[in-house]
This record gives sequence, structure tokens and C-alpha cells, in this order.
Amino acid sequence: MEWQVLLFISVLSLTVVLGQVSYSIPEEMAKGALIGNIAQDLGLGVERLKSGKARIYTGNTEEYIELKRERGVLLVKNRIDRESLCGQTMPCALHFQMILENPMEFYTVTVEITDINDNPPTFERGEMKYEISESALTGARFVLEKAIDNDVGVNGLSSYALKPSDNFVLKTISRGDGTKHVEMVLQKQLDRENQEHMSLILTALDGGEPQLSGTMQIIITVLDVNDNPPVCSKLEYKASVIENAPVGTLITTVKATDADSGSNGLVTYRFSNMKEQLADIFHLDEITGTITLVGQVDFEKDKKCEIMIEAMDQGGLTDSSKVLIEIVDVNDNAPVINVMSFSSPVPEDSASGTTVAIINVIDADSEQNGQITCTTDSSLPFKIKSTLTNYYALVTDSAFDREVVPEYNITVRATDSGSPPLSSTTILRLRISDVNDNAPLFDQLSYVSYVTENNSPGMSIFSVKAQDTDWNQNARISYLLEETQINGSPTSSYVSINSETGGIHAVRSFDYEQMKQLQLVVKAQDGGSPPLSSNVSVKIMIQDQNLQHVYITRCAGH
Ligand SMILES: *[C@@H]1O[C@H](CO)[C@@H](O)[C@H](O)[C@H]1NC(C)=O
Ligand SMILES: *[C@@H]1O[C@H](CO)[C@@H](O)[C@H](O)[C@H]1NC(C)=O
Repeated sequence: MEWQVLLFISVLSLTVVLGQVSYSIPEEMAKGALIGNIAQDLGLGVERLKSGKARIYTGNTEEYIELKRERGVLLVKNRIDRESLCGQTMPCALHFQMILENPMEFYTVTVEITDINDNPPTFERGEMKYEISESALTGARFVLEKAIDNDVGVNGLSSYALKPSDNFVLKTISRGDGTKHVEMVLQKQLDRENQEHMSLILTALDGGEPQLSGTMQIIITVLDVNDNPPVCSKLEYKASVIENAPVGTLITTVKATDADSGSNGLVTYRFSNMKEQLADIFHLDEITGTITLVGQVDFEKDKKCEIMIEAMDQGGLTDSSKVLIEIVDVNDNAPVINVMSFSSPVPEDSASGTTVAIINVIDADSEQNGQITCTTDSSLPFKIKSTLTNYYALVTDSAFDREVVPEYNITVRATDSGSPPLSSTTILRLRISDVNDNAPLFDQLSYVSYVTENNSPGMSIFSVKAQDTDWNQNARISYLLEETQINGSPTSSYVSINSETGGIHAVRSFDYEQMKQLQLVVKAQDGGSPPLSSNVSVKIMIQDQNLQHVYITRCAGH
């Protein structure tokens, strides 16, 4: 440490004042540290100090300095803190007197206390908080708190630093009174969405050696302005819903985010350019963005719905997106059977494979749900043939016999391939019309009858009977006598037949002695076209009246 000793010997002062001496020491020297060899500096011997009972007089001030008479030196007695002694005043010195007796001598001593850098710059507060809008323009200024450094001169406050310096730069302004005013200036605009809170460190530095510093934290909260529109999470939302889904079914949720905060970031949703019919079907919750079903969706009406939605923040900024809703078909439509043509009756001799009906089946559902199979009872002689999609032919699968089955109730069933499948049936009542395919049949293979001679002409002898299983005209039987000769005369000259009843009558009176029997053939013929017929032989036995025997034979069964 450098010591400067200034010595003045004054002869012009008061007679008792023999001189004065000045020392300069740094503050904060240890107790007992040497300030100066006052005896030597004043040209006094140690003996003189002793004999003169030299002492120092500091008045009422605290005793910082001590005189060691036997060594002739001034020592530090108590800690000397320049700052508490002088504050910011410069220079700072202790003034006192040294007094000797025999003879009385009076010296003025000045000890200048020089500053050492024992105080860092300090801030009164550990931190400062600012709330700055992100819309603040560059150049905006924010006054910062000054730091205090109790040291003086170079050891006093010399500069500030601010870190990080991305958004703000420091500006120090020297005022006329020598104080420094410090502020930070916005040089790059703030973006709350990027960084909502910032912490900066303001460092105050002094000029001492070594340099001391103090810091303060600057906490900045960036206030939002509505500088971001909502952004929908997707350009297009896809959803599907089965038709006939119950009211309340969740379709999808749209979501938009808004980087702003508070009401600037509060997004609400609504449909835009909505078709009126769809408004009765879908509901969009304006807060949550959920779309739910409030009506009926029908695949058969709409297979897809496209809805525009709009997301809006409270500041009026918007984004839009699209929601594509696919309606999924459920098997809710049974096939519908249309009989396009139906021929009834069909003749019983129709060939196998004859088309009886043409049927069209329609199912409003799609894909599997609309895929049809058409069947008919396998027990009946019909089958279904399909040539064109959705068109079916009901064809016969074997020959008919009206006399066995005159009518069929044919059930045609159309079934779709849904799960579970739906089906419809229709019943076709098909009548089989008659064809003359049965000849009349006589009750007996042959007939024998008896008649007593001398009968009256026109007498009924007996009847033949034939049956025909055909219908109506085809079963209407006429009985005829086959034209044969009996003893050179035609049969009809002996007997006649009622063509409707088959009743045989005598035409003349018979004489047993001339003719014992008549042999004839009766034909039964139906009314078909062409007609069918059968023959039967009839034997009429003539009986002798003299025998007094009358045999009446009734038509016996076989
Ligand atoms: C067909 O159905 C009709 C009406 O249901 C009925 O009167 C008739 O007896 C049925 N025929 C046959 C052969 O089952
Ligand atoms: C019935 O008899 C006549 C004469 O004998 C004969 O021409 C005819 O072919 C016969 N008809 C039948 C169906 O046997």
C-alpha cells in the first residue's frame, strides 16, 4: 500500500502550533496497523514524546487512532469505515491534535481515509416485476431501479449489464446532477405464445479492483393480445354413423386450438352454411365441439353428409374445417317382391320348364344388406331361375296332373344377406287347367242282362255307367251303340241307348224261340276335343216266358 506523507512545518501559525502532519491510509486497516511515525515526521525524538507526555485529542469523536509514545507512532485503534464516517463525501479525513507539555506544543494531524472497494453495488429490491403487452412496440422504455454503491470514485457504481438481451437493451442516461438513470428499451417485439414469462438479470458493476457487482432479477409477464386465430386440428374430420342410430349418439369432436390466452384463446364452434335438413339431424356443442345426433339419419336418403364448421375466438378470429359423416347402412329394409306377370291357370300338359311368373325384387339397402336370394318351396314342382339381376322366373319343374293336384299355393321368398337377414314372401295361387287326357271308364269290364220275351217295346232293360276323371266338357259322357249287325239287321233295330243316361231300352218285343241273346257294344265318349272313348260289351239274355221263370239280374259287381 502506498503511503503518502505530507509534512508541513508552519512557523506562521499560532505560537503553540508548531506544525502539522498529514497521512493517508485506506479504510478498513487492521487494529494496530501502523499509520505513521509521527515522532520522526515531526522531527521529535521519542524521548521528547515521553517527556512531553504526548497525547492526541480527538474531541468527542470516536477514537479511531492511538498514539504509541514509546515508539513514536500512530496506530489504528478501531476499525475505520470510510462509508460510515463520510458517506459519499470526498475527501474523507480525520482531524485531531497532538499535544505535548514542558514546553506545551501543539500539532495538527490529518489522516485522510481513502476508499477501498469494500461495497458491492446493491439493489434495494431483489426483483422487479413488469407486465408488458405483446403488442408493445420496439422502442418502448421501462425504467429500472438504480443500484447503490456506497463506495466512491472508481469504486463506486460504474456500469450496468442486462442478460439475456434478446428483447431488451439497456440504456443509461446521465442526469445533470451526476446520477445515472437506467432503463431497458424493447428492441425486439415480444410474443406471448412463444414465451410468456421472461427472467432477466440486471447486473450493476463498480469500477473497483477487483470489481464487485450486484444483481436484480427482472421478471416480465407478457400480456396477450389476440394475435392468433384459432387453428382446427384437422382440415377434414371423418366420422361414420350407422343409420337409425339413437338420438344422442356421438359423431365426432372437432377441436381448434388458439395460442392466445384468456378470452383471446377461448374458442367456440358453430356450423356454417348448414343445409336446413341437416340442422335437424346434427347438433354441434359450441363449447366442447362435440357433434351429436339429434335426428334420424337414413342411408337410403343420404349416404354422406358434408358439414362446414367454424371455430371462432372471442376476439372474432376464425378458422374453418369440414366434417364428413358417412352413413353406414343397416339392414332396415326388407326385400320388396313385385309380381310382374303371372299366368294362371296353366294347362296340365305344360312342359317342364314352362315359365309361370316373372318376379322383380327390390331391396333399398346396399351391399350385403341388399343382396337377394329368391327361393320357393322345394316340395312343390317349381323352381326359381334368375337371368337378370333382381329378376326371377318361376318355372315348372315337372309335369302336372290336374286330376291329382288341381291347384298349387306357391310361396316365393326373397331374403337379403344382411345380418340378421330380412325376407318377404308372396303366395302365388296357381290353378292347373284341365286337358282331356282321360277316357271315360265303364264301371264293369262287361255287362250281362236278362229280359223276358214278349216284352213291350220301349221297355227299359238296364243302364251302363262310365266315369271320366277329366273336368267339365272333358268329362261329359255320351253313350252310343256301336253299329253292328244282328241276324242281318242293325243293332239299333233291337235296342236303343239314352246317350246321356246310358239307359238301354228295347225297341221291339223279343221272341225267345227266335233269338236267345243279343250281343252289342256300347261306346262311352267324352266331350273333349278331340274326344276320348271306351267300348264295353253288353250281353242281353232273352228268357222263355213258358218257363215262368223271370231272372232279373242286377248289375253285379265283379
Ligand atoms: C290355397 O290358398 C287358398 C287361399 O288361402 C285356399 O283357399 C286354398 O285351399 C289353398 N289351396 C291349396 C292347394 O292349398
Ligand atoms: C270300339 O269298337 C269298334 C267296333 O268294334 C272299334 O272300331 C273301335 O276301335 C273300338 N274302340 C275302342 C276304344 O276300343
